[in-house]
Amino acid sequence: MVDLIAEKLRTDLLAVFDDPAYRPPVLPSVAMDVMTVAERDDADVDEIVRLLERDQMLAATVLRLVSTPLYAGRTPIRSLKAAVIRLGVRVIRDVVFEAAIARGVFRTGEYSDTLALVARHSTVTAYITRMVCRRAAVDADLSFICGLLHDVGFAGLLLAVKHVEGSAAPSLAMLWPHVDHLHERASCLLVESWGLPRDVIEVVGHHHHLHTGMTARIAASVRLADHLTEYFDCSIVGPKVDGERLPGDHIDAFDLETAAAELGLDDAAVKHILADAERTIPEIAIM
Ligand SMILES: [Fe+2]
Ligand SMILES: [Fe+2]
Repeated sequence: MVDLIAEKLRTDLLAVFDDPAYRPPVLPSVAMDVMTVAERDDADVDEIVRLLERDQMLAATVLRLVSTPLYAGRTPIRSLKAAVIRLGVRVIRDVVFEAAIARGVFRTGEYSDTLALVARHSTVTAYITRMVCRRAAVDADLSFICGLLHDVGFAGLLLAVKHVEGSAAPSLAMLWPHVDHLHERASCLLVESWGLPRDVIEVVGHHHHLHTGMTARIAASVRLADHLTEYFDCSIVGPKVDGERLPGDHIDAFDLETAAAELGLDDAAVKHILADAERTIPEIAIM
């Protein structure tokens, strides 16, 4: 009987994404518009600023993020225009995504502690992915966004639970194994629904699987970063049951070794990345 309930829960959770009445979490439209402009070689500063000014709340979050020591350096950044000039269009696009996801998806609701954990894990993974790419010379323009969105399915599923079950939300302990099992697929469905580029959908939608071809190095960077979040106490774990936390978002040792090999990183190089991260992670604003 318990198995039948569990099976139904699992089917319902994924089916919800196909239900026309279900509204997936929205990505503020400015984020996609900024992404489109950033793709162009002739992207211009004023155009990005005008887009950001359309969404004052998002613009305020972007300004707050770029004012942290992580981006501002010694001289504080005081305007959106100064931020775009100093950091460049593509870094600003990443910051806009960070702000957009924090506001549009990881908002609090039911299961808010877990959503906050997923938000922290996602942000930290994004920054470490950027560091991994730098060390491994991976030319992956969209790597930060892949890191940021890889586990967005956890949030999508937890936000969908209410829709499935009406007002009585099931306990997280009961949900957790299903949410964990389905999160990769749900991440894929969400980034597809937002119309993100094919490479992002590939990497995010199969981040627990090995990649070959064009996306192999970017997927390996996300996987390594995903694992390194553990050193900052930012892994995704489930609720406590009988005093023990349920595991989640597991990456096995073989996948990790394969990722490091794909990137040509030995233990010493991984230690350097960890040292980079130790300097940076405390500066991250949205936690
Ligand atoms: Fe993860
Ligand atoms: Fe994951």
